[in-house]
Amino acid sequence: MDLKQYVSEVQDWPKEGLNFKDITTIMDNGEAYKYATDQIVQYAHDKQVDIVVGPEARGFIIGCPVSYAMGIGFAPVRKEGKLPREVIRYEYDLEYGSNVLTMHKDAIKPGQRVLITDDLLATGGTIEAAIHLIESLGGIVVGIAFLIELKYLNGIEKLKGYDVVSLISYDE
Ligand code: PRP
Ligand code: MG
Repeated sequence: MDLKQYVSEVQDWPKEGLNFKDITTIMDNGEAYKYATDQIVQYAHDKQVDIVVGPEARGFIIGCPVSYAMGIGFAPVRKEGKLPREVIRYEYDLEYGSNVLTMHKDAIKPGQRVLITDDLLATGGTIEAAIHLIESLGGIVVGIAFLIELKYLNGIEKLKGYDVVSLISYDE
């Protein structure tokens, strides 16, 4: 199945000059959504994954069906102020300003093998932050799976040394 056909490209959204990759047209197609999920499950199947982690919001859309299919848990990475119990936080720079991501302190047990999922690899800042959070809790990142990689933004540079897969890629 050519998954790229199910992505809707939206020119000049949310800003002039950008070409937004809308994944809702994968999600609302049962066959395409299942295929994408199955591809990630297959990628992860020999990695002895203990838990899946994904950043809100679109990382949930990719990661939750994967964790269900693998029969393992899912732990959310969330923006500050969303998780009710004790959290660890990681702050990172954006083009303008900064962002904070958090995880519950007990979401990952030391030594657990973690699969990270998200819809899109752009600059890599989000997943770099997720890696920081997971590793500071003692987790081991054994794989990172994206639906889409925007190769021209070179986010992969931030993920050096990690096992990364993307189901769809854009060179420009
Ligand atoms: C988007 C996308 C990725 C991230 C990729 O999330 O879903 O998580 O940006 O960008 P990066 O590689 O430059 O970090 P966004 O923050 O827009 O929020 P959402 O998932 O809640 O829509
Ligand atoms: Mg996101």
